[in-house]
Amino acid sequence: MPIPVILDCDPGHDDAIAILLAGASPELDVRGITTVAGNVSVDKTSKNALKICELAKLDRLKVYAGMSRPLVKDLLTAENVHGRSGLDGPELPEPKRTVEPRHAIDFLIDELLSSKEPVTLIPTAPLTNIAAALIREPRIRTSIQEIVMMGGAIAEGNTTPAAEFNIYVDPHAADVVFRSGVPIWMIGLDVTHQALVLPERLKKIRALGSPVSAAAADLMIFFQEHHRVKYGMEGPPLHDPCAVAAVIDRSIFRFKEMHVGIELEGRLTQGRTVCDLWNVTGNPPNAHVGLSVDAPRFFDLLISRLARYGKW
Ligand code: RIB
Ligand code: CA
Repeated sequence: MPIPVILDCDPGHDDAIAILLAGASPELDVRGITTVAGNVSVDKTSKNALKICELAKLDRLKVYAGMSRPLVKDLLTAENVHGRSGLDGPELPEPKRTVEPRHAIDFLIDELLSSKEPVTLIPTAPLTNIAAALIREPRIRTSIQEIVMMGGAIAEGNTTPAAEFNIYVDPHAADVVFRSGVPIWMIGLDVTHQALVLPERLKKIRALGSPVSAAAADLMIFFQEHHRVKYGMEGPPLHDPCAVAAVIDRSIFRFKEMHVGIELEGRLTQGRTVCDLWNVTGNPPNAHVGLSVDAPRFFDLLISRLARYGKW
């Protein structure tokens, strides 16, 4: 039976690929897409989600706009990575559809409480929507199968030396989620920096020869410049699709259970996912944390799914 999922995202180049992967994977029953402020404003992340759904003819996927800013901090965006639109690179047509009238938080609560089976949440953005829904309606905790998220890191930081963007933007939301008791599978930078769109992989994507694969390749061309300059990477990391892939086939990744705490106060360390890799605190584990990815298997999965778009 397909796994019921909700994508919570801030498109964003890698979020866009995550939507495409989810939309072409029969293992998933995508109940909806919720958007949040992160890479760019929530108006732009919402429009970008609609653009990707229309490009891929995923008209069945409804988009619900969510929180416009973090729970406590002022919003920090990432135009330096994703461009002013949040999806710079290919010229994608203006979406014909608009977001649904229901707010993302209302949709999350309604869908979780009404679903016959528990739903897997796949957040690939600051956790503001997820935290707000948990605060507003704690009953949803038992309706969430698990949270399989992109965010944090054991040892890396991309926004500060200590913190990854999704957690740094809204550490208070991350704290709510990691203390919620909901099963969490955290895929952080230690893993996603192993999932690079290397030139031969980019070539395979472009060779699929569909409007979707062409747009995906063009998105990666834009996305790679920042990562070449900042990290010297040969290709951009596909952060968010890793979370979707982990729901489809968990065996592509290696995880270790451990306690993860969110640093809220540190002058240098705010937004750090403090991962107790060796259980030195004795705190009970509250997350499965990603250690590695089988990158060839990940890209085989991704490319095989992107290939489906050309066949419509
Ligand atoms: O740190 C990477 C994460 O931040 C990704 O989800 C990217 O889309 C941005 O949201
Ligand atoms: Ca994202």
